[in-house]
Amino acid sequence: MRILVTGTEGQVDTSLKALGERMGIEVIRIGLPDIDLSKPKTLAEPVRAAKPDVIISSAAYTAVDKAESETALAQAINGDGPGALAKLAAELNVPILHLSTDYVFAGDKDGIYDESDVPAPVSVYGATKLSGETQIAAATDNHVILRTAWVYSPYGNNFVKTMLRLGETRDELNVVADQHGCPTYAPEIARALIAVAQRVVADPDPTLRGVFHLTGQGETTWAGFAEGIFAGSAARGGKAVKVNPIPTEAYPTPAKRPANSRLSGEKLNQSYGLRLDPWETSLDECLTALTGTVAKEG
Ligand SMILES: NC(=O)c1ccc[n+]([C@@H]2O[C@H](COP(=O)([O-])OP(=O)(O)OC[C@H]3O[C@@H](n4cnc5c(N)ncnc54)[C@H](OP(=O)(O)O)[C@@H]3O)[C@@H](O)[C@H]2O)c1
Repeated sequence: MRILVTGTEGQVDTSLKALGERMGIEVIRIGLPDIDLSKPKTLAEPVRAAKPDVIISSAAYTAVDKAESETALAQAINGDGPGALAKLAAELNVPILHLSTDYVFAGDKDGIYDESDVPAPVSVYGATKLSGETQIAAATDNHVILRTAWVYSPYGNNFVKTMLRLGETRDELNVVADQHGCPTYAPEIARALIAVAQRVVADPDPTLRGVFHLTGQGETTWAGFAEGIFAGSAARGGKAVKVNPIPTEAYPTPAKRPANSRLSGEKLNQSYGLRLDPWETSLDECLTALTGTVAKEG
């Protein structure tokens, strides 16, 4: 199977490349400057030339706060670019898997969001990612949209790496404790993407298509996540850092975030028999990869 994925330096495309190499699956990454999702015409030639069996749409404008002031660019990259990519998938008669986000939801639901809940984004980033979902669904039925959340890994920029960096110079950190979500490890996303790709390439079943939620098992807050990071770091000989829980109002950002963006993985489990590992297990794996040391017992 030959997988074509957008993005060359991102957390998910890098994880996918690494896993593909271990599994003997060809993963071709395409990204800037060869293709630019904000210029959809740049997509056609490299996508056709790659002759993929499946296309994975991972690249995105992921700067959530900056998107509030770069709306047109975020819309082009997150909405129109993936739409154009889906049209190419339809032309080549191959499935397209597309990564979307928990930020398509408003965050005011009491319970966990499932795929039947109606999106109502509260940020430009969320709105542009929702536009990507809509444009992909309009271009081809042969799509699998996977909404993930709070992505971290040894690669690129993410919350785990930011916490560890800040913890080097500070003994205490204030972290938001009233936003609830599901941390998700990019290598786990890659594992699921390959499993989904293998299935949809071989099976035309329409119930395998559509929207699915894909997050690490369990839930926490950003403060709970930070505490897990520093506990794991301390268990590897790192410095103890105290996490002070603060409310969202005490950490104003240009983009509003959903207070609750917990996603249920039940549909993915029922359709594909797939579950990601609990976020604590994956965090341990990530810290081992980042520090080169395993946690001491006890
Ligand atoms: N990160 C999260 O917490 C999170 C949460 C929910 C959903 N997601 C979704 O999951 C997917 C993967 O996220 P990630 O964390 O792997 O993202 P990432 O690390 O920020 O990587 C994004 C990739 O997109 C590329 N890119 C940006 N603008 C582009 C353009 N105009 N044309 C082509 N490529 C472009 C970047 O290239 P350069 O590095 O060269 O700029 C980079 O390779 C995205 O669709 C994202 O929306 C992420």
